[in-house]
Amino acid sequence: MSSERGPDLPPVADRVLLDAGSIAERVRELGAAIAEDHAGEDLRLITVLRGGAMFLADLCRAVDASLQLDYMAVSSYVGGAPGAVRITKDLDDDIEGAAVIVVEDIIDTGLTLNYVLSMLRARKPASLGVCTLLDKDVRRIVDLPVTYRGFSIPDRFVIGYGLDLGGLYRNLPYVATVRDEAIV
Ligand code: IMP
Repeated sequence: MSSERGPDLPPVADRVLLDAGSIAERVRELGAAIAEDHAGEDLRLITVLRGGAMFLADLCRAVDASLQLDYMAVSSYVGGAPGAVRITKDLDDDIEGAAVIVVEDIIDTGLTLNYVLSMLRARKPASLGVCTLLDKDVRRIVDLPVTYRGFSIPDRFVIGYGLDLGGLYRNLPYVATVRDEAIV
């Protein structure tokens, strides 16, 4: 953790919440835990585009086990039930009988992920886990099985390491909190 204002912090941000080194260290620990828990299984790491792609890229290289990667994309239904999403890009591979871990950048209310998990569960994987880098657990509305958690964070909007504000800042190597006045 760091509270230092880095030289390249964008004006919308007020401080670095997690620096690149802390993230890298935690990613290594999560990767080791996943490798230990799933050795010898047909392991699939899946992420929901776009935010989780960066975390997945680092995480998979920290998992010393045989695995496959797959990607899906969803978009929310305007006027639909809370969290209801439709798949805009489906997985390429069948997951029946596989040990699936959904890799997320952040879980907020949990509604989106809850919906995605129910869609994946219907495809009969042998197991279905969740690995999230960040967890705003105080905002959780639905109970979710979070198997691997990088960091619990406070109820602040954050950017960086895959997370965006209006499409920007995904490429910051750290996670920073956004000033309240910058959120419209
Ligand atoms: P949920 O359905 O409320 O859990 O929404 C999760 C999604 O909202 C994440 O996958 C992000 O795309 C987005 N989100 C939630 N909190 C933040 C944040 O602090 N920064 C950037 N995106 C966020």
